Amino acid sequence: MPPRKIIIDTDPGQDDAVAILLALASPELDLLGITCVAGNVPLDLTTKNARIICELAGRPETRVFAGCDKPMARKLVTAEHVHGKTGLDGVTLPDPTMALQDQHAVDFLIETLRREPPGSVTICPIGPLTNIATALDRAPDIAPRIREIVLMGGAYFEVGNITPAAEFNIYVDPEAAKLVFGAGIPLVAMPLDVTHKALTTRARVEAFRALPGRVGPAVASWTDFFERFDKEKYGSEGAPLHDPCTVAYLLQPDLFSGRHINVEIETGSDLTLGMTVADWWRVTGRAPNATFIGDVNAEGFFALLVERLGRL
Ligand code: BDR
Ligand code: CA
Repeated sequence: MPPRKIIIDTDPGQDDAVAILLALASPELDLLGITCVAGNVPLDLTTKNARIICELAGRPETRVFAGCDKPMARKLVTAEHVHGKTGLDGVTLPDPTMALQDQHAVDFLIETLRREPPGSVTICPIGPLTNIATALDRAPDIAPRIREIVLMGGAYFEVGNITPAAEFNIYVDPEAAKLVFGAGIPLVAMPLDVTHKALTTRARVEAFRALPGRVGPAVASWTDFFERFDKEKYGSEGAPLHDPCTVAYLLQPDLFSGRHINVEIETGSDLTLGMTVADWWRVTGRAPNATFIGDVNAEGFFALLVERLGRL
């Protein structure tokens, strides 16, 4: 089988970094490009971080595009309190030397989806959905050409992490999320309900650190940094590796389980802005629009990560 064509849309972020590394390490995937968006940190840093990650992986030929620097209708909210000032705090890596592509990320998304055969390109958004929604808004003809969107965002049982009601990626650009969830595209969502089960432990971090080469130790240092926040906040043993759940799903969907249900995005209420109102119990009769994942085989997930990162 030819490798599956994907585009990762991202705001790196330590967990975004692990998702990108997992994709770069996996021959089943053909990473057509990385589109960056403002989110965890502003756009100048997310575009820099994406290139740092590609160079760490020894893949400077990967195409990295700069996208939207603010949400569709709101002021940007960032998450330095989680990811540090650079977005990639935890280990100092050299500034990237590879160039950023000239084309805007939204133009790259539109052009690629129009050029590639219909149903052949999967989009993996692991940050706020601004780039994807802007592309769909500007070029609605691309929607039926997308094979699938597999995104990290939202929460139902875990409710929120940036507010009591909302998960960060959806909260930052709820108008974009509403557009994407309503676009009629096959969509898989990795909400906090599942990512909070993909937790690092001492043994899992040490397995990364023990890998030969630079990648494993860097991932271990990132998770060490990232962990402090969740340990304090949730009293958990480790930190959730949110974003790599999307790429792992593409590689091994049987690690995950969820429900095909209706998910609506709250954009009207100040109190619950960005909430993913997931009809988990199927009480509304509204048509399903997303496969909302609830569980992961965490042992299998970390085994996959260690095996793949060890290849870089
Ligand atoms: C999401 O928000 C970001 O901080 C992480 O990178 C992840 O994409 C989790 O809520
Ligand atoms: Ca992210």
